[in-house]
Amino acid sequence: MNDPLTIRRLYGRRQGHKLRQGQAELVERLLPEISVPETGELTASTLFGDAEGQGRPLELEIGFGKGEHMAWQASQRPDHGFIGCEPFLDGVVGALMKVDELGLANVRIHMGDAIEVLERLPDASLDRAWLLHPDPWPKARHAKRRFMNAGPIGLIARKMKPGGEFRFGTDHPVYVRWAMMVMGQSPDFEWLGEHPSDFLVRPDDWPETRYEAKARAKGHEVWYFRYRRR
Ligand SMILES: C[S@@+](CC[C@H](N)C(=O)[O-])C[C@H]1O[C@@H](n2cnc3c(N)ncnc32)[C@H](O)[C@@H]1O
Repeated sequence: MNDPLTIRRLYGRRQGHKLRQGQAELVERLLPEISVPETGELTASTLFGDAEGQGRPLELEIGFGKGEHMAWQASQRPDHGFIGCEPFLDGVVGALMKVDELGLANVRIHMGDAIEVLERLPDASLDRAWLLHPDPWPKARHAKRRFMNAGPIGLIARKMKPGGEFRFGTDHPVYVRWAMMVMGQSPDFEWLGEHPSDFLVRPDDWPETRYEAKARAKGHEVWYFRYRRR
C-alpha cells in the first residue's frame, strides 16, 4: 500500500509577481538570516542557538500565507520559537516584512513543504501546531492531496508534546466534514471544545487570517478546530 506521506506532494505555484526593490532586499538580507537550516535535526539549539537541553518551546505554522497570524503569535510569546512553512515566495516576503517591522527574533522560515520540516523535528518537540485554511482540494479524487489526512496528521501528532495544542481552520464545507472524520479517527488528539457551537467561535488568541477575512467577506462560515495532543 502507498504511504500517504510519500504520495503527497506539494501542488501550486511558488512564485507570483516580480518583487519590488525593498522586498528583494529583504529576501536577500533577512531570509538567509532566519531560514531554517538546510540539513540536520531541527531543535531550539540548531534553530535559535539555545543551550543544549535548555531550549525554548517550539511552535509550527503550516502554510502561513503572508504570515500575519504567525507574526501575531510570535509577538505574544517572545520566549518561544516559531517555525513557519510556506512554499510561496510572495507569502514569505509578507512574513519577512512582519518579522522586520515587529523586530521579531523568534521566527524561523522554511520556504517549502512543511512535511520536510516535520520530518526533521525530534518526536514530541512541538508545543503548538497550526494548519489554517490549507487548500481544500474539494474534489473527492484530489482528497489525497489534502494536508488533513491520516499520514500528515499522524506525523504532526508524533512531533507534538503530550498536552500540546493543534489548531485547524477552514471555511470549506467539504473540508469541514473531512476534517471531522480524519480527526475523529485519530487516536492521538482530543477535541478541546465543549459544545458543537465552539466550532464556530474564533478564540481570542486566534487572530483572523488573511484568507479567513476574504472567506467571511464572501459570506462563508468559518470553522475553528482545536485539539489537545493526548
Ligand atoms: C489558502 S492559503 C491560506 C494561507 C493562510 N494560512 C491564511 O489563512 O491566510 C493555503 C497556504 O498553504 C500553503 N501550502 C500548501 N501546501 C503546503 C505545504 N505542504 N507546506 C506548507 N505550506 C503549504 C500555500 O502556499 C498557501 O499559502
